[in-house]
Amino acid sequence: MGEFTAELVDLHCHCLPGLDDGPATDTEALDLCHALVADGIKTVVATPHQLGFFERYADSRQIRSSVAFLNEALRATRLDLEVLSGAEIRIEARVPQLLRQDILMTLADRRRFCLLELPFDTLPDIRPVLDELSQLGIRGVIAHPERNSSIAEDPDLVMQWTEYELTFQITATSILGDSGRRVKKAAWKLLNMPICCIIASDAHGAVTRPPRLGQAHAAIARQEGPNRARALCVLEPLRILGRSQLED
Ligand SMILES: [Fe+2]
Repeated sequence: MGEFTAELVDLHCHCLPGLDDGPATDTEALDLCHALVADGIKTVVATPHQLGFFERYADSRQIRSSVAFLNEALRATRLDLEVLSGAEIRIEARVPQLLRQDILMTLADRRRFCLLELPFDTLPDIRPVLDELSQLGIRGVIAHPERNSSIAEDPDLVMQWTEYELTFQITATSILGDSGRRVKKAAWKLLNMPICCIIASDAHGAVTRPPRLGQAHAAIARQEGPNRARALCVLEPLRILGRSQLED
């Protein structure tokens, strides 16, 4: 593991037990946390699914208490990993209202950024939701845009949202080619467009969909240079967490 992979910041990870299609048990959640540390991750935002296929979603209160439980378990095992609250929210018309009601969760519970998931097969007009979020002072981080079929076909489609200052979260395994050539090509194209991007693991378990952020970081460092890799996997994520000198 190179010097730049020591303290990666992962803003998209399904590491809470029993809330979605991530780990089913406390033991599986801890196994995933060990895999995150082995991958070079020091800080992770737990982002269980809310809305969409997970209509019977965990609400903010459950997420906060599950994160507190997991951090306590990590301290007991002396694993050097900080877990923060978050969610991956399927974008739909109710999102602003449910955020106002503190049912949906923002990234790191800061009410500044929320991780929004597009449908995979269609690209709806998300502008009305983004307008309402702007009024709440919340900016969107679009989860794995490269996995949306329309954007995979034509990555330039993301330029239609320039006015909203979105961040685009590319998934590590897309960079590495695990989701096929078309998705990989779109992921690398997005990285080189004039938009703000970050890389995250979207890991779901230590065995199934394990974290590969360290490998994606290394691949980007080889292709684009270590500074670019660090910006995508450390500095920009820290900005979203309000922990950097960069504009927040
Ligand atoms: Fe996810």
